[in-house]
Amino acid sequence: MLKGKKFILGVTGGIAAYKAANLIRLLVKEGAEVQVLMTKLAKEFITPLTLATLSKRPILVDFFNPENGAWNSHVDMGLWADGMIIAPATANSMGKMANGVADNLLITTYLSARCPVFIAPAMDLDMYQHPSTIKNIETLKSYGNFIIEPPSGELASGLIGKGRMEEPENIVAYLKDHFRQEEKHDLEGKHFLVSAGPTHEKIDPVRFIGNYSSGKMGFAIAEELASRGANVTLVSGPSSQKVKNAKVKRIDVLSAAEMAKACIENFPQTDGAIMAAAVADYTPLHRADKKVKREKDELHIELKATVDIAAALGKVKEANQILVGFALETNDAKANAVNKLQKKNLDFIVLNSLEDEGAGFNVDTNKITIIDKGNKQTDYSLKNKLEVAEDIVNYLHKLL
Ligand code: CTP
Repeated sequence: MLKGKKFILGVTGGIAAYKAANLIRLLVKEGAEVQVLMTKLAKEFITPLTLATLSKRPILVDFFNPENGAWNSHVDMGLWADGMIIAPATANSMGKMANGVADNLLITTYLSARCPVFIAPAMDLDMYQHPSTIKNIETLKSYGNFIIEPPSGELASGLIGKGRMEEPENIVAYLKDHFRQEEKHDLEGKHFLVSAGPTHEKIDPVRFIGNYSSGKMGFAIAEELASRGANVTLVSGPSSQKVKNAKVKRIDVLSAAEMAKACIENFPQTDGAIMAAAVADYTPLHRADKKVKREKDELHIELKATVDIAAALGKVKEANQILVGFALETNDAKANAVNKLQKKNLDFIVLNSLEDEGAGFNVDTNKITIIDKGNKQTDYSLKNKLEVAEDIVNYLHKLL
């Protein structure tokens, strides 16, 4: 979750500064980059050399580099970071941050930061309970900063109570949780159409032509999109699957014609469509009004082609819309999938081959290959359909 994330770690002057070393070590282990800023007083509690060695970057304290006089740009740093952590945050530094007293590099960078700011206060029990500290913390919260509250325990003074800095392991867990939540909302404001399930093409009042599709894959995609903040219009053929997220609006249909109507009507309002339904390719030319009787040795039902919904959407697709199709193949899987991708004007196609065990209809797992317009092929391992939905939505998200 923190891999590749860039953090500024602001270390202010309190005894808990020694914990910054472990915090850096844990963040680097997660694959994050850490740029440490220290206040002058913090250097009395832990040496810059220790923190520079662990973070693999020079520590910044002053506005100017004392060696070459170069300007340490707080604005650039504020823009560079994905997150700023102030740990430990003393009562003094929080007071300055709450009131915009920008008398050192750390606070000016704080004021320039556009990223989320996480503050881990550390001080003695009575300082933490002082009304000015409480007021400053409330002010910082009102700015949208995140306070990582100190737990209770023995303090450096020997007093027991709240005030010691949260342990680095728990700060890392807090950050992971934050970025997981944030990433989960990467589709906020988007709207997608998903088709799912089989269709039933009526032969007479009691019989139909159908297929074994359960709707699991399409419903899993709809849930994944919604859980990441998107609104979803789910057009579903007959399926016993249930919708859980209120952001999914379900439209139930029976036949390919009904599914086509609902999809074509709803597509223009969306950012894209994922066509996971197993739509019948043929429907009876004539539907009998009454039950067909067993009278002859042979019965011939004349069929006509249904609307190819994906292809119809491919024709009206705008440049900013994404169209995703599925291909379920029994032979020549990749060649058939590429052919469908082109014919239907899809942005990418999700291929599942019945040749692969655990893939296809009515099972909880799937094994897919994603093929895009540029013929780039990405193979995935056999996974639960919920994880497959996540892979597909991640792929879609990259194209948005
Ligand atoms: N599809 C559709 N409307 C149809 C048939 C298919 O929207 N009438 C969509 C499916 O939802 C899927 C993709 O097209 O995303 C490919 O479906 P598939 O049945 O594999 O393809 P067909 O084009 O019908 O080809 P064939 O059945 O000949 O393999």
